Amino acid sequence: QEKTSAGRDLKGKRVLITAGKTIEIIDPVRYITNRSTGKMGYALAQIASERGAEVTLISGPTNLLPPIDVNFIAVKTTAEMAEQVKRYFEKMDIVIMAAAVADYRVEKPATQKIKKNSPNLELKLVKNIDILKSLGQLKTKQFLVGFAAETQNLLENATKKMREKNVDLLVANDVSRQDIGFGSDQNEVTFLRPENKPLLIRKNSKKEIAVQLFDCIDSMERR
Ligand code: CTP
Ligand code: CA
Repeated sequence: QEKTSAGRDLKGKRVLITAGKTIEIIDPVRYITNRSTGKMGYALAQIASERGAEVTLISGPTNLLPPIDVNFIAVKTTAEMAEQVKRYFEKMDIVIMAAAVADYRVEKPATQKIKKNSPNLELKLVKNIDILKSLGQLKTKQFLVGFAAETQNLLENATKKMREKNVDLLVANDVSRQDIGFGSDQNEVTFLRPENKPLLIRKNSKKEIAVQLFDCIDSMERR
């Protein structure tokens, strides 16, 4: 039997969650993006809301319905997501960056549809700001959670991200596995914390992973 949320322990807390992917415009009919579907972030928003939190969900495009009772903000590009996250950050108690944010944007999106009139097409991409890293530098009281999507050297790469982004908890996600992660209803992750041993969260529904994430945050905040 699936464990349900443990009461209303998040009552009075303001929780900000980003979810889905961001997209970067190439021209009026084309864009660059990634395979994130938003299921993990939406599960987090639902569980936080059920546990009594006041939830703000900032989401890139998905096919999902936002949970009822959340403050839902739709964005498309990384710049839009960064702007909205910064607008809400200061007032928040817990911030979870579950979104798969595009690392690069097209330097000069075309204002008209690009025609196929040359044999090659070069797109110049420029780096986007790292939203999570900037929050790690800004944070005061906020409990900050990041995700890491890796296809190799999971714990090594994710541990590096935990430290470089100054997060309190990092969810390490092996996106090379077909049975979990992107698009799946299930996931298996490892929670990394600066002062604790890695905690493997065995393969389970994304909702149950969300329950365990809030349980872990709750136990860390009680110390
Ligand atoms: N992230 C972010 N802003 C970006 C890129 C990533 O806020 N421009 C956040 C993601 O939401 C996630 C974390 O940073 O919580 C890690 O994202 P990931 O793609 O795994 O790592 P990167 O730091 O982007 O490094 P790389 O893609 O090179 O592995
Ligand atoms: Ca990235």
